[in-house]
Amino acid sequence: MSTVTQPTVFSAEEYFRTQPAPATLDQDAAKVRAFVATQKKAGRPVVLVTSGGTTVPLERNVVRFLDNFSAGTRGATSAEYFLQAGYAVIFMHRQFSLQPFSRHFSHSTNPFLEFLEIGPSNPMSPIEPGGSDDGETVKVLPSMRRELLTVLRLYHEVQRAGTMLTLSFVTVDDYLFLLRAVAQEMEPLGRSAMFYLAAAVSDFYLPTQKMAEHKIQSGKGSLQIEMDQVPKILKPLRDHWTPEGFIVSFKLETDPQLLIPKARQALERYDHKLVIGNDLNRRKFEVVFVEKDSTSKTGYKESWVTLPEGKHEIEEEMIKKLVEMHKEYMNQG
Ligand code: PMT
Repeated sequence: MSTVTQPTVFSAEEYFRTQPAPATLDQDAAKVRAFVATQKKAGRPVVLVTSGGTTVPLERNVVRFLDNFSAGTRGATSAEYFLQAGYAVIFMHRQFSLQPFSRHFSHSTNPFLEFLEIGPSNPMSPIEPGGSDDGETVKVLPSMRRELLTVLRLYHEVQRAGTMLTLSFVTVDDYLFLLRAVAQEMEPLGRSAMFYLAAAVSDFYLPTQKMAEHKIQSGKGSLQIEMDQVPKILKPLRDHWTPEGFIVSFKLETDPQLLIPKARQALERYDHKLVIGNDLNRRKFEVVFVEKDSTSKTGYKESWVTLPEGKHEIEEEMIKKLVEMHKEYMNQG
């Protein structure tokens, strides 16, 4: 079966008018409203971290979809450093992608079953009741206790303080509707709101009106699908939804030569605060912060952030720098 349609470039407004909103949107918006009110009262800055890739379904009863590359490492790791820096975090992530804290024990790189062992339970011990009937219980391997304890302490601290709200999306429609709703709810925060858009968002999609209802059948030769362009969402975000928010977008390229020109182009188009450029293969060791700078000959300033010797997460350096920049921005206001 082949599907050939006319490509359309919708404005953001038209897009939101014609595409279906996710069923949980109002509930999610209400959660964000309550969270923002609490954090505002406590005087905490709030950052929205988007993380993971969006999907584009090819059928309404979806069997097949296109996906964007992202494990969610950048977003989940950054969220932890924002929390450590005193921010409240709205963590908006692709369902089942990595999340803050649990990411340390991901099922593929550090499976939790590998560091548990079965041992005899001790009914006399106040910390070890609840074993099975045959006198056995679960214990953490001594070699893993320190690491688990460190992460668990931080996680419980965040739970107690109520400084993280988690929301999830799957499709690009979910993502865009949720981003708009969250940004509008964060608007009262003014300059103390930061937007850290690390999610990998599809550039093309199939509007529901052009989607096959049922599974696309094979057997009729090649499949041709013409997709429409997703409206650029940074523009309404900056101009209407959060005019005062500190907006940081990402630029992912595979050709290092394109990184800085594309980042500058995004700043020119959207006039937001910062673009963080990353090369697919070097993104864990170096990134470049690109901002407008009227004192420079080019009109832009680039600063590279690299992973220091002995450290293993570049996000620690990135967030340190961002927190400083955001502080300065808030003070100017
Ligand atoms: O999760 P990891 O595996 O650790 O990988 C992290 C990452 C490489 C995915 C991350 O660091 C990153 O670069 N994320 C952005 C990738 C991306 O989608 O770039 P883009 O060129 O499609 O979009 C650039 C910016 O424009 C994004 O910040 C996005 O918010 C914005 N955008 C995108 C599409 C769209 N329709 N409207 C937008 O405004």
